[in-house]
Amino acid sequence: MSSLFVTFEGIEGCGKSTQIERLAKRLAKEGHKTLTLREPGGTPIGEAIRDVVKFPPGHNQISPDTELLLMNASRAQLVQQEIRPALANSTVVLCDRFYDSSLAYQGHGRGLDLLKVQKAIDLAIGGTKPNLTLLLDIPLSVSQARVSDRHQSTGEIQDQFDESGTKFFERVLDGYHILAKADPERFRTINANQSPDCVSNEIWDTIKEQI
Ligand code: TMP
Repeated sequence: MSSLFVTFEGIEGCGKSTQIERLAKRLAKEGHKTLTLREPGGTPIGEAIRDVVKFPPGHNQISPDTELLLMNASRAQLVQQEIRPALANSTVVLCDRFYDSSLAYQGHGRGLDLLKVQKAIDLAIGGTKPNLTLLLDIPLSVSQARVSDRHQSTGEIQDQFDESGTKFFERVLDGYHILAKADPERFRTINANQSPDCVSNEIWDTIKEQI
């Protein structure tokens, strides 16, 4: 069996975590070695960085450049510690966010120069790129309703991204659409504004083509 590197992208509440969990179970059932990771995070160093970027100590405002560098510090560690060894070992790697998140959030969302963002990404990934990127697409209104439900039902506290405002997330969503359009070979856009079962089936049809 050969390796495959699949990344999942989308705005808050698009259902990435649920779908990754379902896909990982299905792949395992079919006999594929799978590894599920997330960004920022996925390693002890990356998880510590995740806490800092989501909940900056002392409620300090994190600068967009710092955010970009921290995301890519977490990514460099993940690539070297987890992704490359797994791909060298015939594993299907499923990653909840990867470098397209930096282009969408720090580039399009925060307004950083896209070439600068790309340079930071290149340093972090050193040539390790996904074979397939699934963009779970939902309208912003659905994202906001799902996030608000989640906060109410789980008591989860808002992170600094949740507090970034509607205009920021409009730019992030537009950014994702621009990225997907620019690289149709790698991206598949999935309508995630339907039942989780329908989304899982669409994802499975796409994955089947690749394995
Ligand atoms: P999540 O994993 O719970 O979605 O939280 C991660 C947050 O970090 C999410 O708001 C998107 C953001 N993010 C970036 O801004 N840039 C990145 O490169 C990555 C990986 C995540």
